[in-house]
Amino acid sequence: MRAPSSELPVVLDRVSFKTGETTIIDRLSLTMAPGAPTVIVGPNGSGKTTLLRICMGLIAPTDGGISWGGRQHAAMAHRAIVFQRPVMLRRSVAANVAYALARAGVARRARVAHVDELLARVGLLDLAPRAARRLSGGELQRLALARALARDPELLLLDEPTASLDPASTRRVEEIILMAAKSGIKIVMASHDLGQVRRIAGDVVFLARGALCEQRSADDFLNHPTTSEAAAFLRGDLVI
Ligand SMILES: Nc1ncnc2c1ncn2[C@@H]1O[C@H](COP(=O)(O)OP(=O)(O)OP(=O)(O)O)[C@@H](O)[C@H]1O
Ligand SMILES: [Mg+2]
Repeated sequence: MRAPSSELPVVLDRVSFKTGETTIIDRLSLTMAPGAPTVIVGPNGSGKTTLLRICMGLIAPTDGGISWGGRQHAAMAHRAIVFQRPVMLRRSVAANVAYALARAGVARRARVAHVDELLARVGLLDLAPRAARRLSGGELQRLALARALARDPELLLLDEPTASLDPASTRRVEEIILMAAKSGIKIVMASHDLGQVRRIAGDVVFLARGALCEQRSADDFLNHPTTSEAAAFLRGDLVI
């Protein structure tokens, strides 16, 4: 396990994000503490991606505040984000990870061993020389995870990392996520796959129309939703 975190807890205090007349995130207050993965659940357009971008510090709230480990302007050094459709450099799988290590400040001599270790961690060692842009969707997500792990993050934000993957690829990505969580990395992940919530989440943040409806343990959320929005979502009814 790692030393006490400098990124955690992530605390949002009445955070809003507006563009023009549109409110995308609406006075949202929540705390993401060290421990089991937090999964952000909600229908399409409910604000999951926007919330992750705020948590990464890529966009600033238009109202309210966010802090990481008690600081409002924490450097991003120990945070990483994997987007839904990761873009790779037009280079080999290994070179993409080496680049991420270089960006993270790892010395050139240490990089080669580190690349192999990260690729082994995500099951891509055999594909090290392959052109990254030739990978399948599942392999690409695993490479994106290796690249994010190269930053040695305390906080790893994942935007629907298995959205277009088949069950076997989904399982492999989930195993990597669970291993990362076990090593002490705080995972905050968007998903609308309830099976995945069951397999991965410690707690669930449920959003509807940019507002927080529930933050509860995954078991409580899945078995005893308290809001009508969450109950409708769990039944498969649209709540947009
Ligand atoms: N920069 C922007 N300008 C205007 N509207 C935006 C912007 N970013 C997001 N939106 C809108 O905000 C709403 C929430 O978007 P967001 O991508 O955060 O939702 P989401 O929960 O991730 O959806 P999905 O499940 O489809 O990925 C959507 O209606 C989207 O069109
Ligand atoms: Mg999204």
